[in-house]
Amino acid sequence: MENTKNPTLNHAVRYDQFGHRDVLYIDELPLPSPKAGEVQVKIKTAGINPGEASIREGLMAKQFPSTFPSGQGADFAGVVTSVGIGVTKFSAGDEVLGFTEERNGQAEYIAVKADQLVARPANVSWEAAGGLFIVGSTAYAAVKAVNIKKGETLIVSGAAGGVGSIVVQLAKKQGANVIGLASEPHHQWLKDHGIVPLAYGDNNEATIKAALNGKKADAFIDTSGKGYVELAIKLGIPADRIDTVIDFEAAGKYKVKTDGSSAAGTVQVLEELAEMVNDGELEIAIAKTYPLNQVKEAYEELEKRHTHGKIILVASAN
Ligand SMILES: NC(=O)c1ccc[n+]([C@@H]2O[C@H](COP(=O)([O-])OP(=O)(O)OC[C@H]3O[C@@H](n4cnc5c(N)ncnc54)[C@H](OP(=O)(O)O)[C@@H]3O)[C@@H](O)[C@H]2O)c1
Repeated sequence: MENTKNPTLNHAVRYDQFGHRDVLYIDELPLPSPKAGEVQVKIKTAGINPGEASIREGLMAKQFPSTFPSGQGADFAGVVTSVGIGVTKFSAGDEVLGFTEERNGQAEYIAVKADQLVARPANVSWEAAGGLFIVGSTAYAAVKAVNIKKGETLIVSGAAGGVGSIVVQLAKKQGANVIGLASEPHHQWLKDHGIVPLAYGDNNEATIKAALNGKKADAFIDTSGKGYVELAIKLGIPADRIDTVIDFEAAGKYKVKTDGSSAAGTVQVLEELAEMVNDGELEIAIAKTYPLNQVKEAYEELEKRHTHGKIILVASAN
């Protein structure tokens, strides 16, 4: 797929109507020119996120309206190829990671505001860089929302997923005891990161109570939905120490928090997270990579909803 033959074109993920991932295709677009304050980036890697699938299916049309043809993708990493008027922070050749609010990150090239980019630290892999923004800012916001303190016990559902795997590490870094609900193939990774893994199933309440051994949990972060907010309330956790990034119906019913990427989606938070990765304090687990033109296959895997860490699209290898 890489655009070596005609570098005046930009191969980009598009769709023309709501629907199943089969509506996705790769279009050939003109190269995006950076306007004042913008930077053109040749994208190496881009993240995929479950929310994009929901938007594409039209399930979030009220909150996030679409116009067609639509692009896709919020997080990416790559190399600056040119800069618009007034940009002094970056120049051609700089390696960057960043985010876009224009749904155009899954492409070979992007023109994006310079203040939505940070320099890629040397020890942050291209794969980790391209998928950091959405899951990282969401996890950051969720951990902050439940105000977790040293010695407290936090329970996390979806603990090995894109968001969950960062939540558990950030909470651990703050000195919390963390219990992570995940399927068994992901338990070893959780143990390796100091998390107590628990398999979910038909009786999560009993499983969690047994693990707590008579103690009370202090906070709950739900990245999975499927009744975990109600369970957290049943476990006696105060509503203001429960955060769900997915179950907004239950959040309304039980008045729990819903802080996610919009509560922490800033370039400052991205920079902080990238530094943690660079310093070896935060691991971004990479489940699988796909070339950009296999975007449907990438979402097929993501939509199984058992990803450990991130699935990444590779737009350009050099
Ligand atoms: N509000 C926001 O700002 C925001 C931002 C980003 C994401 N989100 C939402 O947050 C959710 C998670 O996103 P993500 O990127 O982390 O997704 P993901 O990478 O697909 O992870 C989902 C995880 O859920 C686990 N899981 C599946 N069924 C489960 C169950 N019954 N109980 C416990 N865990 C279960 C899976 O692991 P196992 O194989 O171990 O089961 C998987 O690791 C999505 O619904 C997404 O739309 C919201």
